[in-house]
Amino acid sequence: MTAFTINGRSVVVTATPDTPLLWVIREELKLTGTKYGCGVAQCGACTVHVDGEPVRACVFSLAGAEGRSVTTIEGLSDDGSHPVQRAWVELEVPQCGYCQSGQIMSAAALLARNPSPTDEQIDEVMRGNLCRCGTYSRIRAAIHHATEA
Ligand code: FES
Ligand code: FES
Repeated sequence: MTAFTINGRSVVVTATPDTPLLWVIREELKLTGTKYGCGVAQCGACTVHVDGEPVRACVFSLAGAEGRSVTTIEGLSDDGSHPVQRAWVELEVPQCGYCQSGQIMSAAALLARNPSPTDEQIDEVMRGNLCRCGTYSRIRAAIHHATEA
């Protein structure tokens, strides 16, 4: 049994400790906003926060979440009002949308650490989040837009 907090809610799950956190989030807790892309920490689609730090949930073991606070896209805000979410809507960032919850989680973690990042700092942090639709320029613009909120 592994106990942790997810989106402010205490949970105890029965999956084996080496189960990737992504499987627990999607299959056991039914929070499907976090996506499976590559499964090998190469695309960023599965990004969630653990104690405020972005992690790739596809390679982060359930054991690593014991006693910690996990946040998924569903918990970033109650109503889509997080500045990054608002900026994403206002600048119409998503195309197919598949990568976007991971993009938003990485961007939110960046802005929590650095409220006014440069283009270079944005590119450095966000380069681990791939977008097959090529929304990179809108992502960068939306991060700047979010800093103004
Ligand atoms: S699914 Fe985790 S990084 Fe691609
Ligand atoms: S919006 Fe389609 S993969 Fe990023």
